[in-house]
Amino acid sequence: MQKQQLLYSGKAKSLFTTDDENLLIAEFRDDTTAFDGEKHQKLSGKGETNLAISTHLMNEIENKGIPTHFVKSLSSTECVVKKLKMLPVECVIRNIATGSLCRRLGVQQGLSLRPPLFELFLKNDELHDPLINSDHAISFGWATEAQIATMREYTFKLNDILREAFSNAGLILVDAKFEFGIHDGEVYVGDEISPDSCRIWDALTKEPLDKDRFRQDLGKVVASYQEIALRLGISLTA
Ligand code: ATP
Ligand code: TYD
Repeated sequence: MQKQQLLYSGKAKSLFTTDDENLLIAEFRDDTTAFDGEKHQKLSGKGETNLAISTHLMNEIENKGIPTHFVKSLSSTECVVKKLKMLPVECVIRNIATGSLCRRLGVQQGLSLRPPLFELFLKNDELHDPLINSDHAISFGWATEAQIATMREYTFKLNDILREAFSNAGLILVDAKFEFGIHDGEVYVGDEISPDSCRIWDALTKEPLDKDRFRQDLGKVVASYQEIALRLGISLTA
């Protein structure tokens, strides 16, 4: 597999073209950002830890029948993925109320959400990723009705699979953000599933072990990500 040109450099990952037009190499960097990139730091070992966690979880969900972009690992910070045409909407699922939901609706922090709450956000940093509904996505052509139905179905299934995996590791999946894209006309899970894109708490202490540690200056960011990996039974090379 030959790494070719840099296709896109985002806030935390870089994507490279390869000698296969259907495949990309995703490099997970140590860059860590919050508040639409306003806060930025390089945290040594973050990229490697996120890639290990995301790879483990992508394998788990693929085994449960949900198609993902993951193809194979390449190095401690790089993997090969299917090239997707990303849908510019972020699918968020919430089991416990916190973050923007509480700020937006004034609901109590820590409220248990049954059934879990599904939300769509437009992927647009300049507009601060605004909340949208499925009609916005359809009317503006960001996704078709059928694609939204599939993303919604997959998001609930992913939530069930991941909640169980985290619960077995003494962790609570508070909320999660998934991105989807199209390959050969089918919807695939893309991007990453990691403590950068999910809120994960210790089941006993309810201490956050995810990117809220960075957002709120709680310290031990990478150590907490490594703790999640350890509890999921992932061995890290570093
Ligand atoms: P955000 O942090 O808001 O997700 P970003 O663009 O800064 O945005 P990165 O994770 O740094 O995020 O960059 C990864 C980019 O690659 C994202 O825009 C994501 O949608 C896109 N992407 C992820 N997986 C694939 C894939 N398989 N094919 C094509 N693009 C992908
Ligand atoms: P949310 O509470 O909406 O945002 P904030 O982080 O501003 O409080 O986020 C819900 C979950 O989705 C949380 O785990 C972070 C994740 N998420 C992203 O990773 N990127 C995004 O662009 C959005 C909207 C959410």
